[in-house]
Amino acid sequence: MKQSLFDMIGGLSAMERIHTSFYDKVYAHPWLGQFFEGLDQKFIELRQTQFMAEKMGSKAPYLGKDLDVSHMRMYITEELLVVRQGLLREAIEEEGVAPELVTRWLKIDRAFWSKIKKDSLESFKNIDLKYEQPMIVEKPES
Ligand code: HEM
Repeated sequence: MKQSLFDMIGGLSAMERIHTSFYDKVYAHPWLGQFFEGLDQKFIELRQTQFMAEKMGSKAPYLGKDLDVSHMRMYITEELLVVRQGLLREAIEEEGVAPELVTRWLKIDRAFWSKIKKDSLESFKNIDLKYEQPMIVEKPES
């Protein structure tokens, strides 16, 4: 039987290590980190692992919300998604995952960007968030 991508990257334990290192980087990042202030890192890691594991062929289900719903109130641009994926790439490569599998992982990640990405501040401001507060994080001066 053909091995799943999930098995080839080293299964649950490899994915958990990668997501711990990935969110260490995200939480420490001056721009991205601000989105996660006050949120339990372990819980975010768990959700990300469940989400990606399911997409890569693990039997365990993802139990979170749809990505368009969970990211609706966040002003997330393409630039921010590229910065985030740079940190994800670093974390996967540091685990020693083979280059062709890194490419496959990042391609799956990119497949979900359209659910999350906001095209302009104008269109973002027109989203009806009901009782939720919009979250706009300015890019810090470097
Ligand atoms: C720069 C881009 C992104 C930012 C700033 C961001 C930020 C966040 C934040 C703050 C949460 C917590 C929401 C909450 O519990 O209130 C979250 C949840 C989540 N994010 Fe992202 N995210 C980004 C991109 C992505 C991408 C590309 C994916 C998947 C490919 C993803 C997958 C998830 C998942 C699975 C959850 C859990 C949702 C739930 O618990 O129901 N995120 N994200």
